[in-house]
Amino acid sequence: MKALSPETIGSLKSPLACVVEVYEALGSTQERARELARAGTPHGTLVVARVQTGGRGRLGRPWGSPEGGLWISLVLRPEFRASLASRITQTAAVGVAKALWEIGVEASIKWPNDLLVGGKKICGILAESGTQNIAGRSLDYAVLGVGMNANLDPSDLGVADRKVTTIRFELGHDVDLLELLRALLSNLDAELNRIEDFGAVLEDWRNLNCTLGERVRVRRFGETLEGRAVDLTREGALLLATHRGTVELFEGEIEHLRQGDRTGDSSASGGY
Ligand code: BTN
Repeated sequence: MKALSPETIGSLKSPLACVVEVYEALGSTQERARELARAGTPHGTLVVARVQTGGRGRLGRPWGSPEGGLWISLVLRPEFRASLASRITQTAAVGVAKALWEIGVEASIKWPNDLLVGGKKICGILAESGTQNIAGRSLDYAVLGVGMNANLDPSDLGVADRKVTTIRFELGHDVDLLELLRALLSNLDAELNRIEDFGAVLEDWRNLNCTLGERVRVRRFGETLEGRAVDLTREGALLLATHRGTVELFEGEIEHLRQGDRTGDSSASGGY
């Protein structure tokens, strides 16, 4: 197995690895990538850490990042309109899912962009956008963080085993991190290159997802909604059929429900 280094990563010749930084240990690749983005680093800047000491997930949650995982952040300077930035989340999810299938892991996407195997999380994606001001000109960038539970045991992650899984556990052996990174960058690049054709990206998202058709619960604006996830809109919002009608969710955290898992919440739906 080849170690991840600027040289081995450079040999992949990926347009998403034009500038590469590799750290033994770093607080968070996301923070470092953002720092580089603000300083003007080009599209395709990749930050990798063997260990993160302050990895973070969505909604400000801590993200356990011990040795053996693939913890990366990418700086993207989309050529497409900034208004398309909100599409990066689902586009990246499709790329990451395809990369996992390529190495033999049959992962599915939980809306908007968690990667699960058998209901357990194997990978998380954090897409954040920002604007950099240079001489009065605004330049948009996005930082895309991907955390893959690769050569780890679920118990290494310090969360309940029933919630997480790892590539090692799913394949029964370790994966070459350079090969995993190659598959990841090549699939991300292919998907990001067709973000303008979002209908096609969402078609693949639909084929790879495990949320549509499920009963789900979401907490937003201080209330809890339950309903059935029926489809995505053209911009990737989740359509939830509740007893109050159809609700569009643009972001947030949903929980898949199983039969008999309903709360007695006043806003909870019936019949779904
Ligand atoms: C989530 O599911 O909540 C998103 C998790 C994203 C984790 C990755 S690991 C690499 C990058 N650096 C971070 O601090 N977070 C992201």
